[in-house]
Order: sequence, then C-alpha cells, then structure tokens
Amino acid sequence: MDYTSIKVERRGRVGWMTIDRPKALNALNTQVLTELLQASDAFAADAEVGAVVLTGSERAFAAGADIKEMQPFGFAEAYLSDFASGWDRFANARKPMIAAVAGYALGGGCEVAMMCDFIIAAESAKFGQPEITLGVLPGMGGTQRMARAIGKAKTMDLCLTGRMMDAGEAERSGLVARVVPDAELLAEAQKAAEIIAGFSLPAAMMAKEAINRAFDTTLTEGLRAERRLFAAAFSLEDQKEGMGAFVEKRKPNFRHR
Ligand code: HXC
Repeated sequence: MDYTSIKVERRGRVGWMTIDRPKALNALNTQVLTELLQASDAFAADAEVGAVVLTGSERAFAAGADIKEMQPFGFAEAYLSDFASGWDRFANARKPMIAAVAGYALGGGCEVAMMCDFIIAAESAKFGQPEITLGVLPGMGGTQRMARAIGKAKTMDLCLTGRMMDAGEAERSGLVARVVPDAELLAEAQKAAEIIAGFSLPAAMMAKEAINRAFDTTLTEGLRAERRLFAAAFSLEDQKEGMGAFVEKRKPNFRHR
C-alpha cells in the first residue's frame, strides 16, 4: 500500500508509524485511520517486529479528529460512521505499542495516545480533551480511558474545561510514563521499544493482556486471568531459556522474539 498520510518503517525489530499531515497538525481523518490500521496489521503479521512506536511531528502528535471532516455530520452520519469502531480495532493491537508524543495531543490525538500501552512524552507535549469547546464530547474512548488512567478529578477538569495539561502535569497525574527532552524523544522511544522487542514476544503479549484486564474486570477476575497466563507461560520455550539462562549466569536468547 502507498501511504500518503503516515510514514511507516522498521528500525531493527521496532515498527514505526509516524502520522504525517503537517498542514492539519496531524488531524486524524479517515485516511489516517485506514493507513494506521493497514500498518498495524502489517506489523502484527511481521514476525520480525516485536514492538511498535506511534508518533507524530515535533509540533503535533495529533490535534484531534479532523474537525473539517466531521463538521457536516448529522446524527445518522455520526452514528453510522465506522470511525470510532475502526479506532477500537487499532486499540486492540496485540503487540506492545508505545506512543511517543511531542506537541499537541488533543481530542482524538490524546485518545489515540491513550490507546497505546504507554506514553513517552517530550517536554513540549500538551494533552487535552477540548471537544467541549466544539459543542461535543470525547468520542474515541477519552472519557473512559482517561478516567481509568488518571481518575475522575483530572478527567472531569480536562473534559469539562477543555484546558490543556503540560508534560509535567501529565506525568504527575500518571497519564504518561516518562518525560524526556524533545531532542531525545524518538531515541528514547526506540530504546524502550528495542528492550521490549528483545524479550520473549509471547511473554510480553501475555503481560500486556493481563495488565489490560485490570481495566475491564474485577480484581478477582483479573487475578485469575493473570494466574492462568502465568501458568501458561511455563509452556513456552522462552521460559526454559529465560530461567535457564539466569541459573547458568548467561544472557538469554529468546526464540520467540
Ligand atoms: C482539522 C485542524 C485540526 C483538527 C488543527 N487543524 N487542528 N484541522 N481538525 N482537529 C488545522 C487548522 O485548521 C489549520 O489549518 C492548521 O491545522 C494549523 O492550525 P492552527 O489552528 O492555525 O494552529 P495554532 O494557532 O498553532 O493552534 C493549534 C491548536 C489549534 C491549538 C492545536 O489548531 C486547535 O485548537 N485545534 C483543534 C483542537 C481540537 O479541538 N481537537 C479536538 C477535535 S474533536 P488551516 O487550513 O486553517 O491552516 C475530536 C473528537 C474525537 O478529536 C472523536 C471522534 C469520533
């Protein structure tokens, strides 16, 4: 597929997707979604890819869903639109995925960053759910993922006032995992993704699956799910290799990387 709105490349075992609509501050239109789904499916199928990074530009990760595309919608168009369910599919990618965020991550941009497993933010990053200023509300999971990630107080504050949160506040509130200088963002994301991609892929995917259970089930059910996955990990060759290497005081060489 020829990509026109994103850039796709592989750096070692890390798949990179870069949103590339600079004139619209990387606003997420249907074309961006279609291309991200295509790239994400290709990385899922590529045995050489162990982790994925999603990023934007220095100025904007993404300034939201494309307002110009949505503006003429009525209820029927909004309800029938496959846009949100397409993003659900994107969010369900099984390989580990890091968002590397510089500049604006607003509305759908913030929501897509939250779909990733964790966010590494540049000092310039600004997060917000400004949909209220447009007469609507978040529609790609923002109210739900943000409330689970940072709690009710800040989610209400951001969604009801539409204000932006800088990288420091985002880190303090638990929305982002790390903040780094802008110049180091991409290298830091690559480094983190390479570390993940060096481990056993099934083990990393099971860890991701178990952590995600924490957000949609009870503690009892989540603990049961974790226990089943933990036991299942002992059927992996990589468990034999990982524990064997520790005992033999050598570096593990995971087969399913
Ligand atoms: C379409 C957008 C856009 C967007 C920016 N642009 N954001 N186009 N959709 N979300 C375009 C502008 O129209 C402009 O195009 C160009 O990008 C540069 O933007 P400026 O506004 O001139 O830049 P600046 O003054 O630096 O302001 C930056 C900004 C502002 C603060 C980020 O652009 C902004 O407020 N954008 C909208 C943010 C927002 O409300 N996002 C939520 C969208 S709703 P031209 O052609 O004029 O140069 C949403 C709902 C998700 O995400 C749910 C869907 C199911």
